[in-house]
Amino acid sequence: MANIYIVYGSTTGNTEWVAGQLEAQMKAAGHSVSKAKAGDVSADGLCAGKDLVVFGCSTWGEDEIELQEDFVPLFEAFDKIGAKGAKAAVFGCGDEDYKFFCGAVDAITDKLGELGATVVGGKLKINGDPDGAKDAIKTWGDGVLAAV
Ligand SMILES: Cc1cc2nc3c(=O)[nH]c(=O)nc-3n(C[C@H](O)[C@H](O)[C@H](O)COP(=O)(O)O)c2cc1C
Repeated sequence: MANIYIVYGSTTGNTEWVAGQLEAQMKAAGHSVSKAKAGDVSADGLCAGKDLVVFGCSTWGEDEIELQEDFVPLFEAFDKIGAKGAKAAVFGCGDEDYKFFCGAVDAITDKLGELGATVVGGKLKINGDPDGAKDAIKTWGDGVLAAV
């Protein structure tokens, strides 16, 4: 059984819904899962004692990548989360019509790599209504769990 923490930033509820799907899937697989909004957590030692931290964040902005607003303060303090040696996974919702489709997922993944985390499962980027991506979410969640 792994100790999993899902931390997400979501404005209209899409990424939040995906976080809930993943929480249910991971709990059903027998893991201990807690979930929090990015705006409610402290960066300090966030990864401590966790076997896996799953970050979810939607993307905003037009000509540049903007992380979902609740996630921004956490991201700015990412050097304090204790990423070195930690396992992490990253997902997010976006819209393919924008220049940087799910750019937040790329930015968070890159930063985690720079800080020495191992990012597992690849990037889950969801276009549009996540309800239509249930199978992709399930497959991604299985892949992430297989790497824990
Ligand atoms: C003003 C605005 C800017 C956006 N910018 C991007 C973007 O740069 N890249 C992207 O993939 N999606 C972009 N989106 C789409 C949102 O990320 C998408 O609606 C997402 O599902 C929102 O997820 P949330 O409800 O979890 O916040 C933008 C949406 C709006 C309204």
